[in-house]
Amino acid sequence: MTLHIRPATEADLPAIQALLSSASLPCADLTSSRIDFLAADNGAGIVGVIGVEPMQPAGLLRSLAVSPDLRGSGLGKQLVAALEAHAALQGITGLTLLTETAAPFFMQLGYAPLARDHVVAAIAATAEFRSLCPASATCLHKYIS
Ligand SMILES: CC(C)(COP(=O)(O)OP(=O)(O)OC[C@H]1O[C@@H](n2cnc3c(N)ncnc32)[C@H](O)[C@@H]1OP(=O)(O)O)[C@@H](O)C(=O)NCCC(=O)NCCS
Repeated sequence: MTLHIRPATEADLPAIQALLSSASLPCADLTSSRIDFLAADNGAGIVGVIGVEPMQPAGLLRSLAVSPDLRGSGLGKQLVAALEAHAALQGITGLTLLTETAAPFFMQLGYAPLARDHVVAAIAATAEFRSLCPASATCLHKYIS
């Protein structure tokens, strides 16, 4: 089956929520926060997702999850590359993220640790930063243009 990474639609939200929940990622603000999602669609359903909360020139990368049966096949990296291209087109020059388990994955892709008190105010004010991600999560940043 061919995989296609495309902008998600509102109709995709239940599948996105299910994928994020199964990966233990925050879902509480999926409809209240403005998030641009990209979905990896294999024709039968959504098997990967990634999102960005745009706050130009900054962006919060979040909600990266790949279906367990497809992990290790390169889809995670493809989703990050697609999200970076999408964000750059929106005028975003740097992406910040919080992760509890995938810091080594993102550091392979050029993301570097960033002290939380150096995060721009708009990102620090997001629900993910304020309350949804534990204080123990690692904060990473990458300039994308
Ligand atoms: C993190 C995740 C999206 C990676 O997706 P994936 O499709 O397996 O990633 P890829 O196949 O592109 O893997 C690329 C590389 O990252 C490594 N990798 C993947 N997940 C990793 C992790 N959690 N920690 C360290 N390395 C990881 C792979 O071993 C691979 O290494 P290699 O290129 O040296 O062989 C996937 O494991 C996942 O959905 N995890 C649960 C949700 C999560 O933690 N999301 C991130 C929070 S923002």
